[in-house]
Formats: sequence, C-alpha cells, structure tokens
Amino acid sequence: MEYLPVFLQLKGANVLLVGGGSVGTRKARLLLRVDALLTVVSPDITEELRQALADHGGVWQQSHYSETDLHHARLVVAATPERAVNEQISKDAKALAIPVNVVDSPDLCTFIFPSIIDRSPLVIAVSSSGRSPVLARLLRRKIEAMVPAAYGRLAEFAGRMRGPVKDCIPEDGPRRLFWEQAVDGRIGEMVLAGREGEAEKQLREQMAAAGGQHAGEVYLIGGGPGDPALMTFKAVRLLQSADVVLYDRLVSEPILEMSRRDAERIYVGKARSDHTVPQQEINQLLVDLALQGKRVVRLKGGDPFIFGRGGEEIELLARNRIPFQVVPGITAANGAACYAGIPLTHRDYAQSVRFVTGHLKADSTDHDWSQFQSTTETLVFYMGLVGLPVICEKLQGCGRSADTPVALIEHGTLVEQRVLVGTLATMVAIVEREKPRAPTLIIVGDVVRLHKDLAWFGEADP
Ligand SMILES: C[S@@+](CC[C@H](N)C(=O)[O-])C[C@H]1O[C@@H](n2cnc3c(N)ncnc32)[C@H](O)[C@@H]1O
Repeated sequence: MEYLPVFLQLKGANVLLVGGGSVGTRKARLLLRVDALLTVVSPDITEELRQALADHGGVWQQSHYSETDLHHARLVVAATPERAVNEQISKDAKALAIPVNVVDSPDLCTFIFPSIIDRSPLVIAVSSSGRSPVLARLLRRKIEAMVPAAYGRLAEFAGRMRGPVKDCIPEDGPRRLFWEQAVDGRIGEMVLAGREGEAEKQLREQMAAAGGQHAGEVYLIGGGPGDPALMTFKAVRLLQSADVVLYDRLVSEPILEMSRRDAERIYVGKARSDHTVPQQEINQLLVDLALQGKRVVRLKGGDPFIFGRGGEEIELLARNRIPFQVVPGITAANGAACYAGIPLTHRDYAQSVRFVTGHLKADSTDHDWSQFQSTTETLVFYMGLVGLPVICEKLQGCGRSADTPVALIEHGTLVEQRVLVGTLATMVAIVEREKPRAPTLIIVGDVVRLHKDLAWFGEADP
C-alpha cells in the first residue's frame, strides 16, 4: 500500500485552500462539510465559494499566496492553475510538516482525497493511489448502489446502543458475535425500514438474554478449488466475521487473506500421508472454540461435503448442540473441468458423471471396478495421482478401451493450472515425463476430446 487510509477530524481546525476557481470550490465544499475553519487565499473566487464561506464562517483572503499563509494551518490544499505556485506551496508545506494536497498532481502531495460514499456517520473512501481517479469514481458508484442511504441510520443506531451493549456483554468475542447477528439480521432490517423504536426494544431483549450465555457458532465453508473469485458471497461474508479460522492445505493464500486481520488462523491441513492434526482433534477443537463464545470458520478446499470429511466435523457439533452452518463450495471437479474446457456431461459424449476417490491404499476401500464400465459416463478421480497406474490398468481390465481419453488437471483454476491429455494406455508415461504436482484431478471419458477446442484458461498444453 502506498497510502495509509485515515479519517481526519478537522472540526474547528485551520485549513488553508489556495485557489478559488471551480476546482478549489469543489474542495472547499468538502472541507466545509466537516466544519473546518477554512481560509481561501486567491485573488478571485467563484460566487458559489463566496456564498459557501459566508454560510459557514469561512474567510476569503483576497491575495496571492505567500509562505506566511501557512502559519497555523493544520492542512493545506493547493488548487491554483499555475504549476509553479502549486510546487512552491507543496515545498513550503513539506518543510513545515503540514499535510499538503495539490489537485491533480500526486507527485506534489503528501495526502490525497479519496472518492467518498457518504452515509454519515458511515463513510466509505475509495482510492486508486492517484493512478486512476476515474476507476475510483466508477467503483464508488457501484458501492453507492450496494449501500443504501439508510445505512447511515443503522450506523447511528449502533453508535447509540454501543455503550449499553458493552455494559451488558463485556467480553469482546461474544459482543462482536451479538452485534454481527443484530446488524445483519432482523434488527438491522427494522432500522433500515425506519422502525427504530421496535428495533431498540428487540435489541434490549436480546441483550438481556445474551448477557448470560456465550455460545459461539461454527461455519463449515467450502473455499472452492483455488481461484478466490470462485468463493460464494456467503462464504466471504462469514469468513470476514470469524474470530478463528481453521484451514486446510488446499486453501489458497488469497482466500485466507479475506479473513479479518485480527482473526486467529490455525493450520490443520493434511498431506497424503502426513496428518498434521488428527481428525478427531480437529472435531474437538471446533467444539472447544465455539464453547469459548467464538465465531469459528472451518475452511476447506472445494466443497466440504465432497471428499472433505465435512460430515464428520459437524457430527460432534450437532451432538454438543453448537449452532453451525455449512456453506457449499465449488468442488474441484466442477472448477477444474470448467477451467480446462471439459464439460463433464455432454449430449454427444456423456449422460452421467461420477466422482470417485482415487485414494486406493491403506485407509480406503478398493472399488468394484465393474461399475465403471459405461462409456457414456464421465469418471472424475480425486486424489488419484499416486494411484494413476492402478486406475488406468483397472479401467482397461473392466472393459474400457485403451483409447479412452484421459485428462489430468494440475492446480485447477489457479494461474499455474496445467492440463495433460492422453489415454488410458498413454497417461502413465505422460505423467512420468511431465511430473505434475498435487493437487491434481483425473477426468476419464470421451468428454476430454472437447478440451482441444474448448480450452480457454491458462497455458496451452505442453
Ligand atoms: C481431500 S480432497 C478434497 C476435495 C474437495 N473437498 C473438493 O470438493 O474439491 C483433495 C483432492 O481434491 C482435488 N483437488 C482439490 N483442489 C484441486 C485443484 N485446484 N486442482 C485439481 N485437483 C484439486 C485433488 O484430487 C485433491 O487430491
């Protein structure tokens, strides 16, 4: 980050604006909105600015800029049409350690004005670090459409009730959970609908009830196959509300970055043979953290209910009556197949698709391979890299032709995605040569033929 976003309290503070043309007038409007004591130095000013200064008790000093104008200024804005004057103001202000903004000259600024969405007391600021004010304004318009004006009222309401809620629920974690449920639920809706009296009554009732109990909540969230843009809105919202995040090896860094800065992150990931935290301990940890009143996110790659042990993790929660929600994610088969341009079903090639575990050793059962005979069914093997030779051999053994197309997708949906294409007869040699690394997904069936024409993402095939 090049600039630190901060919000300045300028009520009653001396602010100097040099330049009273249309640009200066725009800046003055903003500075007067926060009740700064504004002095405008300029030989001429617009009629609008003259009127605004009169309305808000600002001062017009009808002169050219001189260095002494800076004395006592807490902030200075230069908006003259002359680059040399603006440069001088910037130099003088920097020498006196006064924050300075020169309109449209980021190189002369020590602070910049963001695009603002004003839902006071809620204020949202957007900046492109001076690169593209147009882009920042476009984004502002989008955010404006998403945040109705009534959010200001909601922020006002929350501010008014903050003290009473703190008195009633002194611990940080449970209080945050209480507020999130209130603001994001019925109470928030009532305030937005203008029924503040009713909302306050409900809030006070819920406060009294919550004062004694501190049960947390667990969200079992599917983080999708890797590309952070494939997370659902709900997954992102709940992730951003979490006090603690327990995450797996397959959860990518940008996804983890969406959690709150102060959230605790606990890695409980497993590699194929290296179980970092035993499953039972993960299950128990979820219970323990929730009983401490925390909002816990259990973040898993793909979908939590597809080869994700999600069911096991929430069984113990259910037995302990801990509230939980499950948020589906895009499973690797869907994500990787789409990004590889391989439709899993297709009217001409496959009428069904089957997700199969390729983990064929030790703690997993072997398959009844005769069930995989159908040439009109696509097979997707998860965790199949190590077992690939067995998979190719057994499928041929059960009657699938040696020419059956096979795709192996490495790091599906990520920028490193690679797609290796062969057949049941050739795939093992291709993998030995190309040495793909986990996670990989294996797709078997005639739909793989479509990859050649429909591939759209990432590198071309090797
Ligand atoms: C334990 S399973 C978890 C599956 C996950 N719950 C899901 O729905 O995708 C892990 C396997 O998913 C597959 N996988 C997950 N992410 C992948 C990706 N980005 N590209 C390819 N395969 C992936 C691999 O086969 C990996 O061995």
